[in-house]
Amino acid sequence: MSDLKATLTVDGIDGAIELPVHEGTIGPRVVDVGALTANGMFTYDPGFVSTAACESQITYIDGAKGVLLHRGYPIDQLAEHSDYLETCYLLLYGELPDKTQKEQFVRTVHNHTMVHEQIRTFYNGFRRDAHPMAIMCGVVGALSAFYHDSLDISDEHHRQVAAFRLIAKMPTLAAMSYKFSIGQPFMYPDNSMGYAENFLHMMFGTPCEPSRISPVLAKAMDRIFLLHADHEQNASTSTVRLAGSSGANPFACIASGIAALWGPSHGGANEAVLNMLEEIGDVSRIDEFVARAKDKNDPFRLMGFGHRVYKNFDPRAKVMKQAADEVLAELGMENDPLLAIAKRLEEIALSDEYFIEKKLYPNVDFYSGIILKALGIPTSMFTVIFAVGRTVGWIAHWNEMISGSYRIGRPRQLYTGYAQRDYIPLDQR
Ligand code: SDX
Repeated sequence: MSDLKATLTVDGIDGAIELPVHEGTIGPRVVDVGALTANGMFTYDPGFVSTAACESQITYIDGAKGVLLHRGYPIDQLAEHSDYLETCYLLLYGELPDKTQKEQFVRTVHNHTMVHEQIRTFYNGFRRDAHPMAIMCGVVGALSAFYHDSLDISDEHHRQVAAFRLIAKMPTLAAMSYKFSIGQPFMYPDNSMGYAENFLHMMFGTPCEPSRISPVLAKAMDRIFLLHADHEQNASTSTVRLAGSSGANPFACIASGIAALWGPSHGGANEAVLNMLEEIGDVSRIDEFVARAKDKNDPFRLMGFGHRVYKNFDPRAKVMKQAADEVLAELGMENDPLLAIAKRLEEIALSDEYFIEKKLYPNVDFYSGIILKALGIPTSMFTVIFAVGRTVGWIAHWNEMISGSYRIGRPRQLYTGYAQRDYIPLDQR
């Protein structure tokens, strides 16, 4: 840590409070405010806009430049040259694997793709029209009821087994939530297939005939998982860290991340984007919706636009947009009406003073849904796909915290309620 200092003077407090300033490898410096409590004060930062909640070495985002690095590697290079499981290895262990390491990692993931047969009965407890994210919240948390040999967070081997189980089983559980909703039999994983190919097999295969998964679609699916793998201290990752800080088991922590991801301001936005594009319906109605997005009296927001950190293009959106063009062209759907609406909406929004002034650009969720729809994935499964991809990021951050020194996360507050007052008996109220 550096010897830099910040000096704070506060009305009513004699003298100045010296606060250490720490510098990272790249990115903003941080002021260590721990000494404020001794001076009877807290920082106040609703939504954690200016708060660094932890130290991390996994992912770096430069919001102004639209840069995203995973262990130093730019997301566009990983999307171009890597694959999801290799990126999982990088996020978990900090380095790209060599050939042997990669083969071993993939083989270990394959050894964990099946789920306990009894978990299948959990699905029968849900209504057929249950949202798949509701099912995922339930069944992922329930994994801790089955895998007792990977719950001891103090045991590195337990943590590693839990990581492999979660990365390997999320596609299986996700596909099961889809099959359940359409009344089709669950498909077992086929470990002769790649990660994304296997997921599409479990989603769209049936016991009646061999699966024929297009390599182009499998590559597109893999790239979507890769682009969603991690994103620093976002809301769901911060939820996983907070849950983990209490010592909760890894399955419970990941289930908390799934719950936090579900919201339309976060991972639920990809589903909301498709619903929005379908509601717009035609390029002629775009101006109406852009006007609504700018109207302070209208709660409508342009879904898939804006970001707490990116005040430039989300680099993932750029890759996703290119992938959308490639996949739809491959499928002979280049004239897809929703893609046309999305592209026109992007053009209009990016030339509109409101969006320029507020630095609102397309984010990762804006184009992902168009690809997922082209792959035949139902809209209700979009956030589930996001959760599958993000599971490795949640685990990497959870493990980075648990394997280091940490304390239970316990924020304080600015209290503006009543000062102490005495109880009033009922007959005197
Ligand atoms: C993800 O954090 C991550 O890294 C998340 C994520 C990841 O990989 O984990 O990147 C994934 O969650 C992407 C974001 C998906 N959400 C959406 O697309 C939903 C639409 N976007 C917004 O709701 C919003 O932009 C957020 C939630 C993404 C960011 O919210 P902030 O940072 O709290 O910004 P804000 O709500 O304070 O907005 C700032 C201003 C406001 O206007 P003023 O009150 O200053 O006048 O911009 C306006 C907002 O009204 N604004 C929008 C807008 N987003 C922000 N106006 C219209 N349409 C929008 N989409």
